[in-house]
Amino acid sequence: MTGRQLANTDPALRRAWHPVARSTEVGGDPIAIKLLGEHWALVRLPVSGPGDGSAGETRLAAFLDRCPHRLAPLSAGHVDGDALRCGYHGWCFDAAGACAEIPALGTGPLPPRARAVVPAGLTERHGTVFLAPEPPLTELLDVPEADAPTFLHGLLDPVRARVGAGLMLDNFLDMAHFPYVHTATIGTAEAAVVHELEIERRDLGMTVRSRHPFPNHEDPGVASGLRPLIQERVLRYEYRAPFLASLRIEYVEAGGVNVVDLLVQPEDDEHCRLYASVHRNDLDGDEHRLAESVAYEAKILDEDLAIQERYRERSLPLELTEEVHIRADRATVELRRILGALVAAAD
Ligand code: FES
Ligand SMILES: [Fe+2]
Repeated sequence: MTGRQLANTDPALRRAWHPVARSTEVGGDPIAIKLLGEHWALVRLPVSGPGDGSAGETRLAAFLDRCPHRLAPLSAGHVDGDALRCGYHGWCFDAAGACAEIPALGTGPLPPRARAVVPAGLTERHGTVFLAPEPPLTELLDVPEADAPTFLHGLLDPVRARVGAGLMLDNFLDMAHFPYVHTATIGTAEAAVVHELEIERRDLGMTVRSRHPFPNHEDPGVASGLRPLIQERVLRYEYRAPFLASLRIEYVEAGGVNVVDLLVQPEDDEHCRLYASVHRNDLDGDEHRLAESVAYEAKILDEDLAIQERYRERSLPLELTEEVHIRADRATVELRRILGALVAAAD
């Protein structure tokens, strides 16, 4: 292939937010994660302060998984007080990466270069940890339904796959594949034509809307004869560069809202870790139906991965002449433009 491509480890991606773990995966023992070909250690450090009421409080911390001393992985260390102690020679680093102690030095002054590298951005939202290696040019994705008490929330187990991150977002924003890829789930012949899309660009992101008929196999009212199989739905995609997106589906006749989000962590040029979740207000608070919905989404994701893992070239072409686009591809053409704008802004 020729022209500009976006590989999973493109340097421009350092200036963006990426999901790196579910919040529940990070605790008082450091874990190692991989992002853009680099390893990071994540841990929750106790917040210190005698008698300041901070007992039990922790602060999320991330360090490049490479001790500045002999480059040992800091994820092999352990929490000591409010710091992370390297497992090799015991150097201690606070949440800002400052070295607080070098045991082999005794009381001597600490070398100024004895600092652990910390990311420019680290935060948690909707149960996921996000990291930006360098000052982010992108926004986090807000999913209001993810925190709404009137919704049930189901997290799919994170999945590691041999895929391109850009291609996964291309797939998530694409509707024309439903009848061919999702034959066992949401795809049907009725949905083959992609209806008009309304696209609203916002800096390094966009909102895409569509309203169209679809067969509602999940609606119990169809089985009971209350409503027809073919119903209307309103789709709204929210996309934030580079690899964060949600799809909000509102069922017009049956009522209810179903939000699916997909966050992609580009681990290296060949692999990604995928975080998907569902948020629904149409299940009457029924956890069993929520579990079914999570299993259904996992099956849909498996169908997508079956084709995504077959790609030999995992970069996303940013040059529009590289592929053939049609009107139904307007959202995914815009995806390429937005990612091109991120690359240009990061240069
Ligand atoms: S390698 Fe970390 S303290 Fe020596
Ligand atoms: Fe799909």
